[in-house]
Amino acid sequence: MKLIVAIIRPDKLNDVLERLYRVEVRGLTVSRVMGHGGETEQVETYRGMTVKVELHEKVRLEIGVSESFVDVTVAAILASAHTGEVGDGKVFVLPVESVYRIRTGERDQSAVTPAPGSPSDRPG
Ligand SMILES: Nc1ncnc2c1ncn2[C@@H]1O[C@H](COP(=O)(O)OP(=O)(O)OP(=O)(O)O)[C@@H](O)[C@H]1O
Ligand SMILES: [Mg+2]
Repeated sequence: MKLIVAIIRPDKLNDVLERLYRVEVRGLTVSRVMGHGGETEQVETYRGMTVKVELHEKVRLEIGVSESFVDVTVAAILASAHTGEVGDGKVFVLPVESVYRIRTGERDQSAVTPAPGSPSDRPG
């Protein structure tokens, strides 16, 4: 299992969610975050050094997936979050030791994928 963490532009969120849905990725977490991507428009002086502190609003996606979903998930994000301009964001792929579904106590492979027969139309 992997945890895919993607930092994307807020105005790309809908495109990314739609694309993820189409490749059958279910289950994700979205947060609004501030980030710094190395751009240098703003400088501040600290003991004579130039410190870059420009922060931008970004959206952070966290998606837990089984191995067979890693490539398709990353590809979906790369395709749908891309503008070609500086600041499009990053995708990190992290190893995951365990996953538990709280409702059923299932773990790992069966916990990270939707449970068979689990109602997809209920709030989750
Ligand atoms: N090394 C990093 N670690 C954690 N978060 C990062 C890292 N690099 C970028 N980010 C996050 O991604 C956001 C967008 O970064 P950005 O797109 O500028 O990355 P980049 O690698 O500098 O690409 P670009 O060359 O397009 O600027 C940042 O605001 C930050 O939230
Ligand atoms: Mg950058």
